[in-house]
Amino acid sequence: MQPVIEAVGLTKSFGKTRALEHLSLVAESGHVTAILGPNGAGKTTFIRHVATLLAPDAGTLRVAGIDAVRDPREVRRLIGLAGQSAAVDPALTGRENLRLVGRLYGLDRHAAAANADAVLTRLGLADDAADRVVRGYSGGMRRRLDLGASLVGRPRLLLLDEPTTGLDPQSRNDLWDTIRWLVAEGTDIVMTTQYLDEADQLAGRIVIIDHGRVIAEGTPDALKTQAGRDVVEVGLHDRHDVERLRAALPHDTEVTTDAATRRVTIAATAGSRSLADTLRLVDELGIEIDSIAMRRPTLDEVFLAITGQGANAATVTDDAPETAGVAR
Ligand SMILES: Nc1ncnc2c1ncn2[C@@H]1O[C@H](COP(=O)(O)OP(=O)(O)OP(=O)(O)O)[C@@H](O)[C@H]1O
Ligand SMILES: [Mg+2]
Repeated sequence: MQPVIEAVGLTKSFGKTRALEHLSLVAESGHVTAILGPNGAGKTTFIRHVATLLAPDAGTLRVAGIDAVRDPREVRRLIGLAGQSAAVDPALTGRENLRLVGRLYGLDRHAAAANADAVLTRLGLADDAADRVVRGYSGGMRRRLDLGASLVGRPRLLLLDEPTTGLDPQSRNDLWDTIRWLVAEGTDIVMTTQYLDEADQLAGRIVIIDHGRVIAEGTPDALKTQAGRDVVEVGLHDRHDVERLRAALPHDTEVTTDAATRRVTIAATAGSRSLADTLRLVDELGIEIDSIAMRRPTLDEVFLAITGQGANAATVTDDAPETAGVAR
């Protein structure tokens, strides 16, 4: 099947800033492709290229087989974009906004109204919100309407730039459901996110970019396998034992500690024996534990291992994070 996006050697500078550096990326149809990367990695710049809002300095970009540089109008017919900041008009009602967008897509009055109504229903905005001006919407409602605006034209490819940033957990779940429904209906989705759990939940394929380049890609499972072995995670009863346990581990142990949550995470270099070894050590030291378990690395740990930094500040709570020996 033809890839929905095929970028080869995409390069873009803003003045002295290299936002994209020979970025090559393929997104396939039939699932969500999630683009992950730290702030400034080039995620929005890439999305803006696919949306034909920017042209590359070098490289080629095909969207559903169409050359996005040579035929941007053709590409625009196929895509919907919900950008990082809301693009709806605060002075209009939700319904008016969506009808307007439909007309901008070239739909006639009747089709624009019908599509707008269908989208409002689907996004749960049909009842009270649809006929109120957007100025009075909550942030979550605005985001939903913004997504709605990108759906009115029934795009084949939907581009979502951090669609759930700033949403409360309930709104976030609702949006995830909508995204899953869209994929099931046959819409291809390429989204950026700062949230690893979001990528884990939604994406069939994850592309991690940093400094404008792809540095890792694969299914969520493949990335977890690639970036690390299992870990032993110990929950300690007393935060002062965090350092004691760390100090007692063999010198070359890959370990991260988090005093705030009283957790010590140890790479399971010896497989299941690592669990027994850790338990024995804890016992010898007379340290009281609340929990101990062996588990696969989280995507957060994968991200940290690959980029050398957390996906968002909140995930790096260590006072002194030390993850040694990870492949870079
Ligand atoms: N219009 C612009 N003019 C100048 N520099 C820009 C412009 N757009 C992006 N950049 C720079 O290009 C780099 C990549 O930015 P981009 O917005 O693509 O990152 P991002 O991965 O989307 O980050 P974030 O997670 O913060 O949204 C950054 O260094 C940014 O400052
Ligand atoms: Mg961005």
